Amino acid sequence: KVIDWSPVMAEKAGFKHFMLKEIHEQPRAIEDTLRGRLDREHGDVHGHEIGLSDDDARSIKRVFLLACGTSHHAAMTGRYYLESIARIPTSVELASEFRGREPMIGEGDLVVAVSQSGETIDTLIAAREAKERGAKILAIANVIGSAIPRMADAAFYTHAGPEIGVASTKCFSTQLANLMMLSIWLGKRRGSLDEAKARELVEAMARLPLLMRDVITGTRQLVCNLAKRYRDARDVLFLGRGLNYPIALEAALKLKEISYVHAEGYAAGEMKHGPIALIDSAVPVFVLMPKDRWYERTHGNLQEAKAREGQVIAIATEGDESAHSLSQDVIEVPDVPEAITPFLTVLPMQLYSYYVADFKGTDVDQPRNLAKTVTVE
Ligand code: AGP
Repeated sequence: KVIDWSPVMAEKAGFKHFMLKEIHEQPRAIEDTLRGRLDREHGDVHGHEIGLSDDDARSIKRVFLLACGTSHHAAMTGRYYLESIARIPTSVELASEFRGREPMIGEGDLVVAVSQSGETIDTLIAAREAKERGAKILAIANVIGSAIPRMADAAFYTHAGPEIGVASTKCFSTQLANLMMLSIWLGKRRGSLDEAKARELVEAMARLPLLMRDVITGTRQLVCNLAKRYRDARDVLFLGRGLNYPIALEAALKLKEISYVHAEGYAAGEMKHGPIALIDSAVPVFVLMPKDRWYERTHGNLQEAKAREGQVIAIATEGDESAHSLSQDVIEVPDVPEAITPFLTVLPMQLYSYYVADFKGTDVDQPRNLAKTVTVE
């Protein structure tokens, strides 16, 4: 028997596509990104790789997160971390919109430029403009020595390893990990994060690789079945609130870019202001509703979507009976502190877009019209 083999197949390690491999690599990528940085003994983060001084930590007045695409979604979740854990006023900016806007930024401001490649032209130019105005620049990047970390005052790298699929997956979760670690480190130094909360977050982060592995293997089959059922849906909605609003945006972006399906991510509270008109029995509505401070209100949105005969799929905390009784299907994630939920809820959303794309037979790793890194205007 002749074995059909190529170096590319070997690199895919038995997975059909790089994207699927990279989704499965996330527990390992997170482990590598946390290694040597989480300080479990003191419920803290070792700051030596962040590249900022304790003085910087105390004197920063505002944070601006700059990014594009998936990195922008990670930054949106990062804003919750920086505000609730480090208690620093934070804004998130699309780098392309920040450029040339005459932003009110200067000394005392920290710009965190989030970019997998470290080469995205809009993020690079936006960070440069902020630097010229006197802000300090911290890069969160995956590619060591790339342009953004080189121009920045400090670089805090993610250790996801090379990401080949155009659709970013493992880099998204490691960016979340770095934003969480940055927030814990700042919170401890600014006195805004109490001991017990810090320990709870650090311990939850340490458990992440195991939990992520469980979620990937535990939801894979159900998600694949859902993708098969809804592969021909013309429109798909993803709803979330708070920490999971950016995950709704990310789920929609993934579906658009590799499956070519029209999808919208919405802040669930915006439903009544327009998008609810889209819902009918042909529209799958994914509702991200882990048990968190937004749960009751998101639960209300699920009921509204169901009342309009939408095909409702809940992404909910294990054992949520109410989600089960109201939804067509429930994708369960373990019960974790609310700040940690995005790391888990994003996994079935990545798998969903992957399986829809695979069923449709698109070029998953090299979707049409897209480049992995946008380095030209
Ligand atoms: C992600 O799936 C996209 N392909 C894209 O949005 C990407 O995240 C964006 O171009 C930003 O890239 P960067 O992280 O390398 O700056």
